[in-house]
Amino acid sequence: MGKDILNLAVLISGRGSNLQALIDACADEDFPARISVVISNKPGAYGLERAQKAGIKTEVVDHKRFDGRESFEQGLLDTLKAHEVDLICLAGFMRILTPHFVGPWEGRMINIHPSLLPDYKGTHTHERVLADGKNESGCTVHWVVPEMDSGPIIVQKRVDVLKDDTPETLAERILKQEHIAYPEAVRIIAEKLKSSA
Ligand code: GRF
Repeated sequence: MGKDILNLAVLISGRGSNLQALIDACADEDFPARISVVISNKPGAYGLERAQKAGIKTEVVDHKRFDGRESFEQGLLDTLKAHEVDLICLAGFMRILTPHFVGPWEGRMINIHPSLLPDYKGTHTHERVLADGKNESGCTVHWVVPEMDSGPIIVQKRVDVLKDDTPETLAERILKQEHIAYPEAVRIIAEKLKSSA
């Protein structure tokens, strides 16, 4: 990396509200990153529209068109090569990634997860937090390593779990924090790289 402006690839599968938070952050000329490309594994993902509205290049790498995980990941790797990318931001990208993909990008790929990692890795985090009667939850931006939801933590935001919370109300409150946490994490990485350059 080692430059003033980080070029991001944002990988999505769905609505892309975290992508939107990054688009909005990058609209500020003082923000040390810009989005080079948005890649979705789902052709109809709403996040693609958000990107197009913002004038950002989009690519679809549809996992259904590949005969296995490795060839899909190779498709992603090839697509990334066609763009200038310093850092991959996984933002609701719902495919498990193997070392074939993670290896070449380790140390240059981050993810956002809706729990206070290392607690509640995987899916259905809010349901599990509520079932366990926790009084706190939140979100985590972390480096991606081959083991799922396990890399070093960059930013965490906490929210209280309220007495009447449902998985939906808790998800909504945490999502607001995600939208703060993701741009914050990108800024932290960009500033660290700048100061070490
Ligand atoms: C977010 O809750 C994120 O933490 C999780 O998937 C969801 C994606 O939401 N990994 P969006 O597509 O960014 O709106």
